[in-house]
Amino acid sequence: MYVCICNAVTDQEIRDAYDGGAHTFAAIQDELGVATCCGCCEPVAREILASCQAQQEKETAAHYPRPLLDFSAAAAAG
Ligand code: FES
Repeated sequence: MYVCICNAVTDQEIRDAYDGGAHTFAAIQDELGVATCCGCCEPVAREILASCQAQQEKETAAHYPRPLLDFSAAAAAG
């Protein structure tokens, strides 16, 4: 689906750019030119970026579960 009509950018291109390392909205703008003309597409483009970030967090959590021992309280106490 086209997200940015001005620059002919699709949702898949945004997802591919994210997978390629463009993890911020500015990086995606730099790479694809999305939301650099009229800006009408910015909310949808940001939603796609957020879904990519959420998916990555979910996958990271699945690969790196929380440790069994939590030392953060001990570290905070000094
Ligand atoms: S629709 Fe994306 S800048 Fe206009």
